[in-house]
Amino acid sequence: MRVFVLTGAGVSAESGLGTFRDRDGLWARFDPSKLATPEAFAADPVAVHAFYDMRRRDALAAAPNAAHAALARLERGLAARGDALFLCTQNIDDLHERAGSRQVHHMHGESCRARCLACGAVAPWRDDMGVFVHCPTCGAARLRPHIVWFGEVPMGLDRIADELAHADLFAAIGTSGAIYPAAGLVAEARSRGTPTLEINLDPADNAGLFDDALYGPATEAVPAWVDEILGGAP
Ligand code: APR
Repeated sequence: MRVFVLTGAGVSAESGLGTFRDRDGLWARFDPSKLATPEAFAADPVAVHAFYDMRRRDALAAAPNAAHAALARLERGLAARGDALFLCTQNIDDLHERAGSRQVHHMHGESCRARCLACGAVAPWRDDMGVFVHCPTCGAARLRPHIVWFGEVPMGLDRIADELAHADLFAAIGTSGAIYPAAGLVAEARSRGTPTLEINLDPADNAGLFDDALYGPATEAVPAWVDEILGGAP
């Protein structure tokens, strides 16, 4: 059995990291057109760096929750019986990894990585970044967060398509289904006859495309679902 899990901001909400589109979400407090596009970075790199520095600090100060831990347990449990999990996240935090997940595909990038616009190198990055900070590989002061901004192509779409093509079950957890191409994965899975499940606090924009749904806080719904999948196996 191959399980494809897509996660969104809702899986990290109970770790204290704001979602984007909930009432007091990030995009209610910050303007994405001024902070999360390549044009915004070209126009005001200082403001964009400050925004992602804040998000990086918040992510590093946060702790994984029971939903992250359950997905790490699912990865181990499936592997132990010869099955597999493909964990694809839209989140740029590293809470899945800190909960013990070994394989995490960050389709929208990672806040704890820097990319150099001069040499293309990508390096782990835990400190604040800025326009005067030099690339550890080539020395140029042209670093940007290794993030997918609006208008840019998500990372590893070929891998995602391949994993989806071989999935026996598709589950979306804590995502509003507002942003494509991630929001389109359920329709792709459906068109292949793959069973689909939504786990969310409230029905997502594309809730009607899912065969099944579990509604409730991720820290409750995800461990219960993982118990079910693993049949009570530890
Ligand atoms: N448990 C489960 N789900 C939750 C919880 C919770 N505790 N809290 C919120 N949610 C759900 C909300 O109901 C909503 O459906 O999580 C979803 C969060 O939706 P968004 O804020 O739109 O986040 P996401 O879907 O991850 O956004 C997708 O948009 O802004 C871009 O690149 C950014 O990756 C992001 C993408």
